[in-house]
Amino acid sequence: MDKVAFYAPFVRGAVIARLGRPCVVAQAPEALDGTVVTLSGDEDEKAAAAIITKAVAETEKIPCRVTLNVGGRTIPFMIGEEFSALDWLERGGSVYFPPSIGLEIIPNVRSWTMRNRVCLVTGGAQGFGEEIVRGLCEGGAIVFIADLNLAGAQDLAEKLNDQRRRSPVAFAVEVNVGDEASVAAMFEKVALTTGGLDLCVSNAGVLRAQPILEQDIDTFKFVTGINYTGFAIVTKHAGLLMRRQFLGASSSPWPTDIIQINSKSGLEGSNKNGAYAGSKFGGIGLVQSFAKELVDYHIKVNAVCPGNFFDGPLWSDPEKGLFAQYLRTGKVPGAKTVEDVKAFYEAKVPMGRGCEGPDVLRSIYYLVDQVYETGQALPVTGGQVMLS
Ligand SMILES: NC(=O)c1ccc[n+]([C@@H]2O[C@H](COP(=O)([O-])OP(=O)(O)OC[C@H]3O[C@@H](n4cnc5c(N)ncnc54)[C@H](O)[C@@H]3O)[C@@H](O)[C@H]2O)c1
Repeated sequence: MDKVAFYAPFVRGAVIARLGRPCVVAQAPEALDGTVVTLSGDEDEKAAAAIITKAVAETEKIPCRVTLNVGGRTIPFMIGEEFSALDWLERGGSVYFPPSIGLEIIPNVRSWTMRNRVCLVTGGAQGFGEEIVRGLCEGGAIVFIADLNLAGAQDLAEKLNDQRRRSPVAFAVEVNVGDEASVAAMFEKVALTTGGLDLCVSNAGVLRAQPILEQDIDTFKFVTGINYTGFAIVTKHAGLLMRRQFLGASSSPWPTDIIQINSKSGLEGSNKNGAYAGSKFGGIGLVQSFAKELVDYHIKVNAVCPGNFFDGPLWSDPEKGLFAQYLRTGKVPGAKTVEDVKAFYEAKVPMGRGCEGPDVLRSIYYLVDQVYETGQALPVTGGQVMLS
């Protein structure tokens, strides 16, 4: 692993312990004056973290510069509460005044929860992922939009960065969550850009609804490979990064979060959709198990189980969407239009409508805010699925 990416989370953890708030740690273009920390490079993670934490605790003020000297190699970092502080440091500034950003209050969500938190959303280019990315940015977070569709992620990042006076708030990163090397490279990029991570939303998912008697087993394995194994791969590499940050912050109880976007089909079987429902049920087993394992590093692991997102592309795409498909195949008896099919599915929900972006976003804000819960699967289904 890249040495800079390896050490950056220790530094970020140490600064968080000092500030009690999230921050940005970025590699400096060249060695700058400031605190120097000497390491041999042979220390284990715990010992390296202890040395860095002690040195950062003694720095005069934040923003600042910290240079690691690892076995003779110099690794300079700039540290600030936001990217604009880093620009200022790079220009050699000495007294920093944070830009006055009008706090945008989002209706019905906790307005300060996400401020300056570093978040990553897999499958963030469209659908629920895009809604989550937009909502986190609105809340003041720095968000990595991680997607197989790099062009879509870049397009969204550009739009979000254009809307801001301070920059940047969104970064596009290409990933295939089913491929471990790709996921490891993604988290290295995160460590190199922001020094660490506070929230990982494992949202990328695929659906191939078919009866098991007709389903090609390669298609079954494809769904499981992304929804189930992909979540495990993302958790492994997010967890490795978050653990280093935790070790740096060990004097402060700074919790981090991994949240899987699961489904109501993870709580209740889905007819002719076994590959998907099975992968989501399995996801909850992983959430519970990973939660028990990662609690030692203050990493909470929870799932959100949304109901159907009728306005998202999966359902509403005029060609490939499920409403159009179900109309063509006559799945809903008597339905003559897409609207008839939609009304049929809405009627299954006690609250009479599909799940929307803000519904999922509220549950994410809740799970991050709630520091006394882990290993849970939170239904967001308008009453369609109830826990027993
Ligand atoms: N849409 C719904 O009704 C609904 C309901 C409940 C749960 N969910 C869950 O919400 C999540 C998002 O669903 P959606 O409907 O918004 O999906 P979507 O198909 O609209 O978007 C999925 C995104 O994930 C990306 N992606 C796909 N495979 C990937 C991979 N291997 N690596 C990285 N990125 C990949 C796609 O490029 C796309 O941008 C999924 O986990 C899904 O199971 C969806």
